[in-house]
Amino acid sequence: MNQLQTITIEQNENWQNFVDPSVDLFEEINKLKKQKKTIILAHYYQDSDIQDIADYIGDSLGLAREAQKAEAEIIVFAGVHFMAETAKILNPTKKVLLPDLNAGCSLSDSCPPEVFKKFKEKHPDHLVVSYINCSAEIKAMSDVICTSSNAKKIVESFPKEQPLIFAPDKNLGAYINKITGRSMLLWNGACMVHEIFSLEKIIKLKTRYSTAKLIAHPECEEPILRIADMVGSTTELLKYSQSDSEDTYIVATEAGILHQMIKNSPQKTFIPAPPNNSCACNDCPHMKLNTLEKLYACLVNEKPEVLMDEKIRLAAKKPIEKMLEISKLAGV
Ligand code: 13P
Ligand code: SF4
Repeated sequence: MNQLQTITIEQNENWQNFVDPSVDLFEEINKLKKQKKTIILAHYYQDSDIQDIADYIGDSLGLAREAQKAEAEIIVFAGVHFMAETAKILNPTKKVLLPDLNAGCSLSDSCPPEVFKKFKEKHPDHLVVSYINCSAEIKAMSDVICTSSNAKKIVESFPKEQPLIFAPDKNLGAYINKITGRSMLLWNGACMVHEIFSLEKIIKLKTRYSTAKLIAHPECEEPILRIADMVGSTTELLKYSQSDSEDTYIVATEAGILHQMIKNSPQKTFIPAPPNNSCACNDCPHMKLNTLEKLYACLVNEKPEVLMDEKIRLAAKKPIEKMLEISKLAGV
């Protein structure tokens, strides 16, 4: 059977079975990419095959910047929904595809717009700083967006006396409160992946590998961040693992980042921080919904496409652009 016919079959829960396993997906995706003037943007938490075929791999800030300046006709966003949505908000004339439209985010889901609206109304004197891991509706209700790479600078761009709400990640918010000496009002949201690490098991690992450094994403809980040797966004953790002189690292973030760490520093040892129960793992189930097969299918079919209401897009664009401006001025 012709391969393209095989996968233009409407996607359903078994659709992966229709991709002929003898197809060289790397070759086919590369061909389609050129034919269809496509750019593939991937987050570090994606499967290693997807990272290897991407035109750009980065953290949320880097991905937003790449999406904004993309000249390709199609952007395939190998990440989760809020990231692809951000790409569409910033570059609306492009067709933005997400290999699996169900790739959501537990942190984004922890902040339902109608509940947040009421919360915001109770604090009319507060301005809203929202972490980029939220829906377009939440962005539209925010004064500025931030990512883990620029959160400190974004918060510091407001006068100290300005009351602020920080949403939706309580862990990142608490960390920024601590390092800036602020007392922002925190929305009670969290990421299911970054809340899974076991402090006890990490301490045991640090005892066993006495020189190992703990590097952690600020979405982790406070006890983990308190003992971390370095706290940063995925890009910052990756850069640190390259430039630092130690040879062993315990990595407290989603396990996908280890692919780039090992690629860039093959002589070093990277240990994923252990989760608090043996049935759990530190793979993000949302990120990992995207597969190379789905990426191939979405390029052939040019769907699923990320679309949104124009009024919400315009309202969400303002605080994202404000973030990009502040970051640029602050040299982040
Ligand atoms: P960064 O890549 O911006 O550090 O964010 C991590 C994350 O949780 C993405 O979902
Ligand atoms: Fe969302 Fe956490 Fe997955 Fe990032 S790792 S996409 S914050 S659930």
